[in-house]
Amino acid sequence: LWLITGIRSRRPGEPPVENGLIPYLGCALQFGANPLEFLRSRQKKYGHIFTCKIAGQYVHFLCDPFSYHAVIRQGRHLDWKKFHFDASAKAFGHESLDPSQGYTTENIHHTFLKTLQGEALSPLIKTMMENLQSTMLQPGVLKAKPSEWQSDGIFAYCYKIMFEAGYLTLFGQELDGDQSIARQQAQKALVLNALENFKEFDKIFPALIAGLPIHVFKSAYSARENLTKTMLHENLSKRANVSDLICLRMLLNDTLSNFNELSKARTHVAMLWASQANTLPATFWTLFYMIRSPAAMKAASEEVRRTFESSYQKVDPLNSRLMLTREQLNNMPILDSIIKEAMRLSSASLNVRIAKSDFLLNLDNNESYHIRKDDVIALYPPMIHFDPEIYEDPLTYKYDRYLDENGQEKTSFYRNGRKLRYYYMPFGSGVTKCPGRFFAVHEIKQFLSLLLAYFEMELLDPEVKEPPLDQSRAGLGVLQPTYDVDFRYRLKSH
Ligand code: HEM
Repeated sequence: LWLITGIRSRRPGEPPVENGLIPYLGCALQFGANPLEFLRSRQKKYGHIFTCKIAGQYVHFLCDPFSYHAVIRQGRHLDWKKFHFDASAKAFGHESLDPSQGYTTENIHHTFLKTLQGEALSPLIKTMMENLQSTMLQPGVLKAKPSEWQSDGIFAYCYKIMFEAGYLTLFGQELDGDQSIARQQAQKALVLNALENFKEFDKIFPALIAGLPIHVFKSAYSARENLTKTMLHENLSKRANVSDLICLRMLLNDTLSNFNELSKARTHVAMLWASQANTLPATFWTLFYMIRSPAAMKAASEEVRRTFESSYQKVDPLNSRLMLTREQLNNMPILDSIIKEAMRLSSASLNVRIAKSDFLLNLDNNESYHIRKDDVIALYPPMIHFDPEIYEDPLTYKYDRYLDENGQEKTSFYRNGRKLRYYYMPFGSGVTKCPGRFFAVHEIKQFLSLLLAYFEMELLDPEVKEPPLDQSRAGLGVLQPTYDVDFRYRLKSH
């Protein structure tokens, strides 16, 4: 019957199943409109685990955080690679990065860990700090009289500054010793173009992941192709100060893969997207919530002032050489909490695994469920992030939510009196946890520290409400606001 109608019936021992009202799409529309509301109502009806048909695929949603470890610890029954490699190839158009497909023998996961974590972080942070300062303080961004207020959208500002600084940090500079004004202007134009192309492409990213072909979207397609051209190895190899991540990826593309030149370039576009698509909205929410909360602004400003003072650094926009070491960045619990709280409220990444074979999933309450081969198991962290039993008043922004009574990082969160292992998951989980998460948090901290050190800032409307989250990207990471919010800033007089 299932083969004829496409509708699955529940077998003994399987989670309750909901096929939805529409053939093929199933529950996709209800889920897409507001995933959190949809999942909560089903959790009330069915309990810790249930199955929904979404766009032709049966997805088991696991909602009990105490059972998450059954999925997160990489069980032999669960596959994560196929989904990720397929999604990346679909969105960016490169040949498969999965070694089993025969195009490359690179273990890309390993490449990421080696070039984004541990010792690799210090040079990344150093370059990012320099790039952030030159971007923030450059004449085109600041008014001729920088002591005068100037206004901008917070979203527009975060995109402008973080994209440019992040892009130059990963992909290096075009200048190559030549510091002439013309060369600098050419570089600026390249980055601005890349930002426009990135935004145009990023708009349709959810549709690509949902399986629509990119050719349907003419301008997004040409935006992706424009980005690809700038990332051809012949162009990247002319750049100076390229990050270890991109240098190593270029080398491995050239030595371990049989990708053609376009495919190689597309793998770098994928890196650009991964490094920016979540960081940019995360920076927006962090700055927005911080500016709106006088207590957060005060606590953050003091932490930043203390940190620069303790290393005898003077804030001078005419000689912008502020530095923060990894150790200093790791020692800023207030900024840490401010970033975490903003991401708790705005991130919505679906953690997905695929069953390699039929197997029995054991939950924390000793119940077990049959899962069929090729079914998807999904965790949706906003279910935890907005759970009032874990986070009191979950809709309210509290900048110090992740600080303990000693002002240090708080790591004890409870549900029903039991301590939780998983209470904060914007970066995913287990093997698919974001390899760039340390760099991401460091770069947002650097951005906030520099803004607070150099500028005074305020909202144009101090009473402004938070813009709603754009749910069209739910499942893919940090959500964007549906509209921008204006603020104004000016250089502090030092
Ligand atoms: C993967 C979140 C910033 C590089 C992921 C995943 C999440 C995530 C949830 C896993 C996706 C999945 O399970 O399907 C974030 C957030 C960020 C951020 C919230 C910022 C606030 C960055 C940065 C970089 C980066 C700055 C690099 C410089 C990557 C890469 C992957 C990834 C390469 C794919 C890993 C793999 O498949 O092996 N990120 N990310 N991310 N992220 Fe991030």
